[in-house]
Amino acid sequence: MKLDRVIAKHRCLGRREAHRLIAAGRVKLDEQVCTDGQREVDRFMRVDLDAETVQQAERALYLMMHKPVGILSATVDAVHQTVIDLIDDPDKHTLHIAGRLDRGTSGLVLLTNDGRWSKRLMEPGEKVPKVYLVETAEVIEPSAVEAFSRGFYFHTEDLTTLPAELVILGPREARLTLHEGRYHQVKRMFHRVQNRVVALHRESIGDLVLPVELGPGSWRALTPAEVDSVWRGASARDNDEV
Ligand code: URA
Repeated sequence: MKLDRVIAKHRCLGRREAHRLIAAGRVKLDEQVCTDGQREVDRFMRVDLDAETVQQAERALYLMMHKPVGILSATVDAVHQTVIDLIDDPDKHTLHIAGRLDRGTSGLVLLTNDGRWSKRLMEPGEKVPKVYLVETAEVIEPSAVEAFSRGFYFHTEDLTTLPAELVILGPREARLTLHEGRYHQVKRMFHRVQNRVVALHRESIGDLVLPVELGPGSWRALTPAEVDSVWRGASARDNDEV
């Protein structure tokens, strides 16, 4: 919501009167005077009018977790332990997951209460790379590399998967980079080349890499630079496409 609307709503004023208060330097955004009524205000910003607090800043949370196999990528579940159950934070109930993993998959999971940030990561149009380490039941044929890069038509969604980079690391081991996140995508893609995934681990999402020191079940807050990398990553990809 724009700043002039926040002030108008709070004081039951018209937008023109709200503008007058803002232009007079009586409004602070995050403790700085702001005279631009068109500034976008989100719930993580504090707004003051003279000595009165119009809006308290909510605490923004950005976490990474090493999800272990067997833990559900969900916020609540009656049966299974969820990623939220592993987190110790008073505001954990505000979190949502930016890109789920299957219960049998391990690796990097990002959690936040900032919907704009997670949208930047997860929107198909953003094409954020997600890197997976895959172990398969059968030998991975070299022809799979070309097949993954061409893409597979998924009847259920009526789409062809975006070009994916498959690097064969061993007879039954590969590293796969996807630029989207479809339901059971890795398993379905390997199924198309007559193979079966027996172990799956997500190593990274965009510039965010699961650190070796973050063991299964551990989590930590992202650093400000890591949070920013999501915004920067999106704009870098925008520039690539120009
Ligand atoms: N693809 C899958 O099949 N499973 C996951 O957990 C993630 C990607």
